[in-house]
This record gives sequence, structure tokens and C-alpha cells, in this order.
Amino acid sequence: MCGIVGYTGKSGVGKVLLKGLKRLEYRGYDSAGVAVVQNDGIYLQKKKGMIKDLEPITIPSGNTGIGHTRWATHGKPSDENAHPFKGCSGEFAIVHNGIIDNFITIKEELIEKGHEFSSETDSEILVHLIEEYHEGNLLQTMGEVIKKLRGSYAVCAVQRDSDRIVVARNQSPLVIGIGVEENLVASDIPAILDHTNEVKYLEDGDIAELTPSRIRIWDRKGVPVERETVEIDWTHEDAEKSGYEHYMLKEIYEQPKAIHDSLLGRLVEFDDVDFNSYDTRHIRLISCGTSYHAALVGKYIIEELAAIPCTTDLASEYRYSSPSDLTPFTILISQSGETADTIAAAREAKQRGCKTLAITNVMNSSITREVDEVIYTQAGPEIGVAATKTFTTQLIVLYLIAMELGLNNKRLLRENVQEYRDELRRLPRHVKVLLDQSDYIRDVCDKLVTAEDIFFVGRNINYPVALEGALKLKEIAYIHSAGYPAGELKHGPFALLTERTPVVSILVKDHTFEKMLGNIGEIAARGSPIISVGDEDRELEKLSDDMIVIPSVPPLFSPILVNVVLQLMAYHTARKRGCSIDKPRNLAKSVTVE
Ligand code: G6P
Repeated sequence: MCGIVGYTGKSGVGKVLLKGLKRLEYRGYDSAGVAVVQNDGIYLQKKKGMIKDLEPITIPSGNTGIGHTRWATHGKPSDENAHPFKGCSGEFAIVHNGIIDNFITIKEELIEKGHEFSSETDSEILVHLIEEYHEGNLLQTMGEVIKKLRGSYAVCAVQRDSDRIVVARNQSPLVIGIGVEENLVASDIPAILDHTNEVKYLEDGDIAELTPSRIRIWDRKGVPVERETVEIDWTHEDAEKSGYEHYMLKEIYEQPKAIHDSLLGRLVEFDDVDFNSYDTRHIRLISCGTSYHAALVGKYIIEELAAIPCTTDLASEYRYSSPSDLTPFTILISQSGETADTIAAAREAKQRGCKTLAITNVMNSSITREVDEVIYTQAGPEIGVAATKTFTTQLIVLYLIAMELGLNNKRLLRENVQEYRDELRRLPRHVKVLLDQSDYIRDVCDKLVTAEDIFFVGRNINYPVALEGALKLKEIAYIHSAGYPAGELKHGPFALLTERTPVVSILVKDHTFEKMLGNIGEIAARGSPIISVGDEDRELEKLSDDMIVIPSVPPLFSPILVNVVLQLMAYHTARKRGCSIDKPRNLAKSVTVE
């Protein structure tokens, strides 16, 4: 889950590394550090805390260096456990992302051979192994070192008095940025966007060597290989806050564009996948976190539009479930494409003989190598840890998939699809209307700021939206909140309702509206403040303390609009509480540990 960046060239390595690391902080922010190659050694600066805690630092001038921002796995956050690591001789330095499963055995062997360790991390063994095996050529040494490793790694190594960076990858992302008289390497694209849009993705088992003027790559058998050069269409402005106070707010406001871009070229004909060639009698949707909530909404969408039964699974549960229930078609949803549990679930699904499709936002991410088909959401880079625009675009893709399936199995006629497509086309405009209500939503949040428990309730397709609203508030505002299907409150949670327990209720005018009104009446009778989000209705307004009205759309499309309101609620509540919105405590954007 850590972020890695490496640079070799003449643009001032210190600045490049710090800027790159700031762009990667969403991968982890409990410690950070940089190593810069000098003629007589390697300069090292590392510290517990965020990148800003490293500053002000005076990094000596140099051309080559590596940097790291950490999310602790082995060893608590501390100065000692921060990367990079130098070995005993000080000739080499490394940064690592991943987990070395057999590090304890290797560490014991190295200690016996006289190596002295300064940290509790698994990563530090890598630099000592390099020292142990080094016979004059760092590249060959890396080849020897990785033969000893079990587990996942993206590792970058530098050596005193050398402008080379030697890197290796297995199951942890690593991408090379191709510059002019400079080259870069990073765990994620945002770190290199200031320098180049041309990249090469490394494959598992690859080793590569970068100098300012050359990139060479070898595969796991040691055979020199050419990896395709890919042009990235993200710009460096996409990865900046552009005047917004937080990335999260910027990303909430980018949703009209993200929806538009994800629909682009897909509304006349959606031919990303030929579903006719798959057995889609039953579909399984698998994912984690916010992407799991998209899967839950997706189940309602597909069942409604295509009448195909869907099962949803959390990736971390699916992996250990009984393989007896064979579902031929499996959709994996992952914003980052790097979530370890979702990747493992993709492998498991393949093992069970299922056809697999990934919905992801990150080109060439690890999950894309594990599945039969990929559909990309076009949300642009999402830096805030809390997923916002990527959830919205995951739903957009699910609508498109459901319509295609509905057409294929004749549940939908062309004219129905045309109407739905028109609804999708109108969504960016509706979202803008809601964004314009941000100040009003901010004021409503006064009721949430001091609450210790908050419920979010909805029914049918908006039940998972209630789950997502509660998750967002937990994640960034640190308030305990629970999403519930409104009909279930009376089976337990009613005992918790008091005048100090606000309830955010989602009501749209579908076949559950009347039942929902009844539920809201019951909640109001317990004295809980009610904030309603949904379609305009006099009766509902009377029952609610506050009401946020969404533009009128068919109920099937309401999750996108309701969710924008809940995102803004979480944002404003967290801001009023002074929370660290873009980097909530203990969390990371992509969770590459199982
Ligand atoms: C982390 C992030 C969440 C995200 C989840 C799944 O927990 O903080 O925002 O929803 O991982 O991530 P994915 O990249 O697989 O969608």
C-alpha cells in the first residue's frame, strides 16, 4: 500500500521526489523518506509522519534518488521503520512496497552472517541481501536477490556514485515514466505526470534498469524484453487540487465530467464487451469497500434491467467460500485495480472456471492482468482516500452493462434502452444542480457534527446507498454511523434511537415510498432528528427536520444523485469537525494487503 517514486535525470532530484511523494500520499502517510545518490555515499532523510513533516529539509543536489511514503504493515510507524533503507556498508539504498512472506528466515540468515538491522520491517532484508550478493553489478545482484523472495514486491535500488536505478516487481504495481534525458519509476501514475505521459508497465517477474538516457527491461527468465509504451491521458492538473481545499471536494465536483467521460462513445453502441459470448444466466459481483456498495447497487440495476439474478460478495469473504455454487460470469469491481483481496478473488473465480470481467479506473492495473475482460471507468485520477467520483462512474458502467444484457436477453427493447440512455445523458446536469446546493447541505450538517451515532436508512436500490453514506461519514468524519434497510430498524436498532441520534433517510418515489414514509413516522415518534434526501413530497417534508430534494429522475437512477448529497454531507461534517479529509487516520486508498 506504500507509495514509491524514483528519479534519474537533471531536474533536481530532491524536488522531484518530494513532489512525487505528495502525489502518492494517498497510498499511505505514516512515514516518508528519500535517498539521494552522492559520489561518496547515499544521503538519507526519513521520518515518522506525513511528507510535510519531512520538510523543510535541504536535500543535497544530486541526479538520482528514490522516495517512499509508508502505510505500516511490519513494524509500527517510526523513524527507524520508515523507508528508504541503507544496509551496513551504506553503499546501497532501497524502497519497497509489498510483503515479503519469508523475511523472518532470511533475516535470521543475514544476522548470522553479521548483518545489523535497524528496523522491524520485512523490507530492510532487501538491502542486506543486495550487499550480500553484490559482486560488482547491481542488476545481476537484483536478479539473485529476487530468487530468494516469496511474497509481493515493488522494489527500487540505488547505489553510491551511480545514476542507475534498478527495480523489480512481483504482484505490486510499478510503472516506468519515459522522459527526455530523465526517467522515472513509481508505484502510481500521478507521481510522474509532471514529467511525462509515456509509460511502460512492468509485468510480474520483470527487472528493469533506468539511467537518464536508457531503460532496459528483462523478464523473469532474464530475457531482455520490450514492454509496450502506453500514452496516459491523465494530465498533471488532474492530480492537483486546482484551488479546492481538498482533493475530495474537487473530486465530488468533477462528477459531472466523470459521468460524461465514462459515457463518451458508449451511448450509441456499448461494445466494450461482447456479452453474447458468455454464459450470463447468473452473475456474481465481487469487490471491497465503496466498490462493494457499487456492486450492491449493481445487483438491483442488473436484476431490474436484465432480469438476471445476481449474487454479491465481499472479495475477502468470497475467497474462502465454498466453490460448490458455480456462477459462470463474475464481475470484479475495483477503483485502483490493486486491492489484494479483489485480485485474489479474481484468481479464485478463474480457478473455479468462471469468466471474469473487471471494472476499474486505472489502466493496466494489476487486476487487468487477472481477468478475461476489462471495462474502464473514465473518472481520472482519484487522490482523496474516500472514493467519490469513482463510485459514481462504477454505477454508470453497471447501467451500461445492464442495458446491454437486457437487450441481449430481450428483456429490453431498443426504445426502452434509448430512454434510459437519455436519462444517463442528463445525469451530469442533475449532479450540477445538487453541487449548487452545497452551502445548504453544509448548514444541514450542523445537526450531525456533534452526534455520536448516526443512522442512514433506505430501501431497495437506495439501501446500498445508505450503506455508502454511512461508510463515508465513518471514514472521514470519524462518527460511528450505520446504514440500514429502513424496514429492519425495528428489529433491534430502534433501541438506540433517541433525540441525539440523527437519522438520514433516503426516500424516492418508487414502490417502497409509502412504506418508507411509515418508517420515517416511526422514527420521528422516537424523537430522532430526521434529515431526508430524495424526491420532493409534502408529507415527507412535514415529517423531516431537514429535506434535501434531488432532481426528478426515474428511481433506478436516483442512487447517483442521492449519493452526491451524502458525499457532500460527509465532507462538510468532517470539515466542521476538523478531520483530515483527504488522508483519514489509519486508512489508505489502495489496500494491497490481505
Ligand atoms: C480502500 C479505500 C476505499 C475503497 C476500497 C476498495 O479501503 O480506502 O475507498 O473503496 O479500498 O478499493 P478499490 O480500489 O478496490 O475499489
